Parts: sequence; C-alpha cells; structure tokens
Amino acid sequence: MNTLAVVGLQWGDEGKGKIVDLLSLQHDVIVRCQGGSNAGHTVVVNSEKYALHLVPSGILTPGKINVVANGVVIDPVALVEEIGNLRSRGVEVGENLLISDRAHVVFPYHKLLDRAQDAKRSGSDKIGTTGRGIGPAYADKYSRSGFRIGDLLDRGFIEKALLPRIEEKNFLLREYFGADEISAEETLAEVAKAAEALRPHVTDTAVVLRRFIAQDRKILFEGAQGALLDIDHGTYPYVTSSNTTAAGIPAGTGLPPAAVTNVLGVLKAYTTRVGAGPLPTELEDETGERLRESGAEYGATTGRPRRCGWFDAVVARHSVALNGCTGIALTKIDVLDGFETIKVATAYDLDGQTTRDMPASASAVERCVPLYEEVPGWKEDTSGIREWKDLPARTREYIARIEDLAGCRISMVSVGRERTAIITREGK
Ligand code: GDP
Ligand code: IMO
Ligand code: MG
Repeated sequence: MNTLAVVGLQWGDEGKGKIVDLLSLQHDVIVRCQGGSNAGHTVVVNSEKYALHLVPSGILTPGKINVVANGVVIDPVALVEEIGNLRSRGVEVGENLLISDRAHVVFPYHKLLDRAQDAKRSGSDKIGTTGRGIGPAYADKYSRSGFRIGDLLDRGFIEKALLPRIEEKNFLLREYFGADEISAEETLAEVAKAAEALRPHVTDTAVVLRRFIAQDRKILFEGAQGALLDIDHGTYPYVTSSNTTAAGIPAGTGLPPAAVTNVLGVLKAYTTRVGAGPLPTELEDETGERLRESGAEYGATTGRPRRCGWFDAVVARHSVALNGCTGIALTKIDVLDGFETIKVATAYDLDGQTTRDMPASASAVERCVPLYEEVPGWKEDTSGIREWKDLPARTREYIARIEDLAGCRISMVSVGRERTAIITREGK
C-alpha cells in the first residue's frame, strides 16, 4: 500500500490545489476527506484558472477517479453548480466523480445560521468564517441531528424529517438572531433537485476505496484548510470545524489509519491567513502589502484580502509534527524574489519567556512576539527555474534554513501558479 496525503501546514491557501493537480498525474484516485465549500483550491493549467471548492483537484486530469468522502460536508446546491461550471468549461465530470452516501449535508439554514452567528459575535470574537455553513453543519452532525447525502435520496424520509428541523432552525433564526426565516417548501424543492442531479455519483465510497487499495491503485488524499485551522490543534476558536491534519483522513474516508503511508505538507514561503484570529508574524505595513500584491493574496472562496507576514517556523514545526510529514512542498518562493532581506520567525517571546512550541490558547498566541532571524534575499527571478541546481545560492540557503527549522525535507519547490512551475528535488 502506497498512498499520499497532501495537507496544509499553515492557515490554509498554501497552494494545496496546485500541488494536488500536479501529483494527480501520478495517481489514480484523488480523495477529499474533510471540510466543505469553505475550501478554495486554485489550479492553473495551460493559463486556464479553475477554483475548486468541493470537487477534488484531480478532476482536471482526464482518467482519474475523484472521491468526495464521508468526512466532507456537502452543500448539494453548491456542488451541482460547481459541476455545471466545470462541464461548461469542457471538464469531464461523470463516472469519474464519486460522492459518499455518508457525507453530511449543508442546508441553506446552515449558511444562514453561520452568517447570523458570526454577525452576532462582537469585535474580536468574530471568526470571519467563509459563511458556507460549515460550523453549523458539523455541529448538527456531532449533535446527531444532521442529514446525510443518502438520506436526501430517500424523498419520503427527508420530506418528513426535514420539516421539523426547518421549524427548529427558523425559530432560532427568527427569535434569537432576528434574521429572515427560510421557506420549508423551497428548501426541500431546491435540495431535492440538487440531490437528484448528484444521485448517479452517490455510493459507499469507503467500500470503493478499500477495493482500490486492494487493487494497488495509487491514492492521493487532498487536504483542505491547514493545521492551524484544525478544530483540535489550531488557534481555537479561530479555526474551522474539522480535523484538517492527516489524522482526519481515516475517519473522513472509512480507511484504516495505516492506509495513510506518506504525508506531503504544503508550506508557503511566507505566512497568510484569511479571517480573524492570532497571526504572530503578521505585517501590517508596506512589506505585508508587498507580499499580498506580489502573491495575489486574495481569497479564492470569498475574495477577501489575506493577512500576510513572514515565515513562521514555530507554526511549521507544530504542523510537521502533527501530520507526521514525510516531505514538504514549499510554494510561492518566487513571491520573495527581489526582497533585500527576508525574516524568519524561529521562536516566540511569550510574556518574557522564549517558546518554540505553539501555545494552546488563542490569547497566548496573540501575546506572542516573534523572534526573527534575518537572511539576505536574492535579486533574481526564480519563476522560470525548473532545476534545483539553477536556483540562486541564497534561495537554496533560505530553503535549507526552513527545512532545518521545520525538521522535514523539502522535496518540491513551487515557483509559479502553472502546473509546470515546479522544481522537484532528487534524492532523500
Ligand atoms: P489552496 O487553498 O491551498 O489550494 O491554495 P489557494 O489556491 O487558495 O491559494 C494559493 C494561490 O497561490 C493560488 O492562487 C495559486 O494559483 C497560487 N500559487 C500556488 N503556487 C504558487 C507559486 O509557487 N507561486 C505563485 N506565484 N503562486 C502560486
Ligand atoms: P483552503 O482549503 C483559508 C478559514 C476562514 C475562517 C475560519 C473558519 O482553501 O486552504 P469556516 O467557514 O471554515 O467556518 O471558517 O477558517 N478558512 C480558510 N482559510 N483557506 C481555507 O481553505 C479555509 N477554509 C476556512 O476564513 O477564518
Ligand atoms: Mg484556498
């Protein structure tokens, strides 16, 4: 058995989509295991840009099987729209897309509640969610009041079961949040129509994945979000509502833990975060602005400007350890081209003490002052480079320093958006 998980090691948007797209060429099956349409994975192939939210990035490579497994929360209406958009651009979506009958459903009321809850939070309590209904859908799943894709296909059952749930959610929306209610009839009609469109893709994906493993087919797990957004190990409560680390894969697919044999962590050469919460290396100055503009750091899902800062090795070490990374893909090194000097946070000062570990509480992380090391930049354009030996010496030194601090080998370096803009490092 030889599988590969590609996971984010920061606060999401590390470039997972680009790396998954590239590695899809060497795999047979690409699997999304957690998260939902909060994810936005941008892939650029032959100058064509695609933003994927629920559909695995492997869909862009003909002949690959793409699986949306049970751990994902699916907004059926959003998924049907995404499939329609892909088809209209000539991407084949048919038997190559499988959807788990056990995946929980994101209903319109989850989205309304998500937005109403975050709007009601005041000041620094706001999480800045994507508004895609993720938190409320996972909350219903864990409080055992959710519905699954399989339930949606049973029209008689869902008609009966959904009405009292909508009544309950409308009570909350109306009485507690002072928000508009939703129409039960319209919700049912809209969701049932989307479910019918998805029906041909729905199956027991755990059984299918086990069969693929038995056939020795090559499986790639596509992570969404990043380790610092993990519900347990991230900067809680400024996180998403799933386990974004490799630990989420077995539960999110129905495969045993040993089915995850290799873990490639994706790290951006600097740091970004979209939404609220602590970000120790954040730069609220012209350097931060320069990173945002050069890196085109605007959210793929919401279009929000991403907060930017220097590379944070405390974050990298925490995430490499949590995921058991066997390799790292370092992305967007080209965005650092031309900087006179570059800073890297190696540790934090927390209330007068030096710490190299990520504190648990968000308020402690908020008080952390990064301790920087400054390294010389390189004045060359790396975007056209395709071989490790052709990288400027200072770029290689920067990469080696990150590797050393993170405690894991950097096996790929990405220097641009295109699938071809990659340097694969040979050897162990
Ligand atoms: P994901 O959510 O982890 O898949 O990342 P996003 O797609 O949300 O954000 C990464 C952005 O950086 C996308 O717009 C990619 O096209 C772009 N990108 C990925 N790798 C590179 C790279 O090496 N250099 C540059 N300049 N852009 C990149
Ligand atoms: P990808 O897969 C970056 C952030 C939101 C917010 C927090 C909670 O593209 O890397 P949610 O809607 O999940 O309840 O929002 O998590 N967030 C992401 N940030 N990339 C993502 O996905 C994200 N998905 C959620 O901005 O701060
Ligand atoms: Mg993204």
